[in-house]
Amino acid sequence: MKKSMDNYFVPWIKPLKMYVSNHIELAWKKPSLHRMMSNENPIPPSAKILKTIEKYSKIANRYPDQGLVIRGKLAKMNGLESAENVVIGNGSSEIYDMAFRTFLMPGDEVIQQTPCFGIYKLRCDLLGGKIISVPMEYRDKKMVYAPEGILKAVTSKTKIIVIANPNNPTGNFMDEKDFVRIAGLGIPFVIDEAYIEYAGFKKSQSRLIKKYKNVIITRTMSKAYG
Ligand SMILES: Cc1ncc(COP(=O)(O)O)c(C=O)c1O
Repeated sequence: MKKSMDNYFVPWIKPLKMYVSNHIELAWKKPSLHRMMSNENPIPPSAKILKTIEKYSKIANRYPDQGLVIRGKLAKMNGLESAENVVIGNGSSEIYDMAFRTFLMPGDEVIQQTPCFGIYKLRCDLLGGKIISVPMEYRDKKMVYAPEGILKAVTSKTKIIVIANPNNPTGNFMDEKDFVRIAGLGIPFVIDEAYIEYAGFKKSQSRLIKKYKNVIITRTMSKAYG
């Protein structure tokens, strides 16, 4: 008996809604609108970039190498031992994809501190994981991280803890000592540093990588470098 397509979806994919970027459709249709959404770079690529793209497009028929030169440079810039400490993806979004697929099985838990960037939940949902959202606290008219809440939320099913440094959309930082406490649990700990350049590298937690094998730091070329 032939079954309909619906029957073939894994159960955790079925209820998910498609990501529809109507705001971007609208912006392309109406160039007179000012594109203030999605944290896009308003400046088009420079002549130097266009020249480089043209140069390398001419060898785009070949598989690329492993990116050891650029990975090595990024490792050096961040005080890491070698290119092997660095993974490059198509945006840090792809790195979440890789990390989540590496550690999560259906039913496993990911802890995030809300409000935060939406992709952690999206990636978790795609894999049948359960997102555990621990809200920030509101003290002295400010949103502050609640590390006790994060530690309390840990269970035997916790496979990833993800914290942004600084956070989007609140722009705040968790205390350094709390990064160390969470790293010390040994659970894969993803620290999202998409906006670290705006705060200065002194605020980065990259030194934790040397001490804790479970720490993964994500950075991106799409914000400050854009
Ligand atoms: C906190 C945070 N992390 C990660 C990203 C993803 O950036 P990309 O996939 O462009 O590297 C964004 C994008 O808005 C973000 O706000």
